[in-house]
Amino acid sequence: MMSSDKAVTAHYLHGDLLQAIQASITALGKTIENITIEDLAAVDEFHVGGRFATEHLLGQLGFSEQHHILDVGCGLGGAARFVADKYNNHVTGIDLSTEYIETGKSLCDWVRLNNKVSLQQGSATAMPFQQGSFDGGYMLHVGMNIEDKEMLFKEVFRVLRPGSSFGVYDIMRIIDGDLIYPVPWASEKSSSMLATPDQYKEALVDAGLEVIQVNDRHDYALDFFKILREKSAKRVGLPALGLHTLMKETTSTKINNMIDNIKACYIAPVEIIVRKN
Ligand SMILES: C[S@@+](CC[C@H](N)C(=O)[O-])C[C@H]1O[C@@H](n2cnc3c(N)ncnc32)[C@H](O)[C@@H]1O
Repeated sequence: MMSSDKAVTAHYLHGDLLQAIQASITALGKTIENITIEDLAAVDEFHVGGRFATEHLLGQLGFSEQHHILDVGCGLGGAARFVADKYNNHVTGIDLSTEYIETGKSLCDWVRLNNKVSLQQGSATAMPFQQGSFDGGYMLHVGMNIEDKEMLFKEVFRVLRPGSSFGVYDIMRIIDGDLIYPVPWASEKSSSMLATPDQYKEALVDAGLEVIQVNDRHDYALDFFKILREKSAKRVGLPALGLHTLMKETTSTKINNMIDNIKACYIAPVEIIVRKN
């Protein structure tokens, strides 16, 4: 494994994640027999806007029942389970983190989706899949950890079939300025691999993909966080299950720093929809 990959897995390492999620489920008053993918969305959709943002991206991708879909940097596989359930198709997720993949497999078992969702440890820049294996795909908040975007999108191009749609939803650099760290994807500047929408577009086009649509989700992100704040002001303490289950005591610092960086317009979540012709 490359040293940058080791740094990424160390950044996301929890150490006792499955047990932590199980304890949260008990605190929620549920069991692993009756937990649903909706309950799990609080912890397994690790990107700005959570499940709502996933649905927004999916609305532009035209996936269907016959498709085999790729989730690049799938984390715990929350979006992969949602897609497989929504379209009744098969989704394969790949992620560097062995802990996320192993935990994600247990979550698939709990919600009985292990026959439709396959999660596999591996790198997005050297995927263990044959060319033309997938009919579509997406990546949610992954590119901020990958310096070599050209290699990443060449791999995406290689494993997609002609006619496939692919959705990128990443935090991107908008204007120059010093970001405040830590943020959810990086503890410090040296491990944050942000790129501008133009740099993404160039890497995508160089890989052979056609850019169909670019959506800056800056205002959406700030509205989303405002609603979250209003909800949490009405509640005593933290919800049983949430991103704090993943990021532990660093959660509020990382999320608040990210919001401040978005408010300063230095960064924003951006969607880019591409197609392999
Ligand atoms: C912020 S999390 C998002 C996880 C998931 N996409 C989601 O939205 O819930 C970023 C994920 O990207 C994964 N990742 C980063 N670099 C990667 C690489 N080179 N190959 C595969 N996965 C990678 C990390 O391990 C982590 O799970």
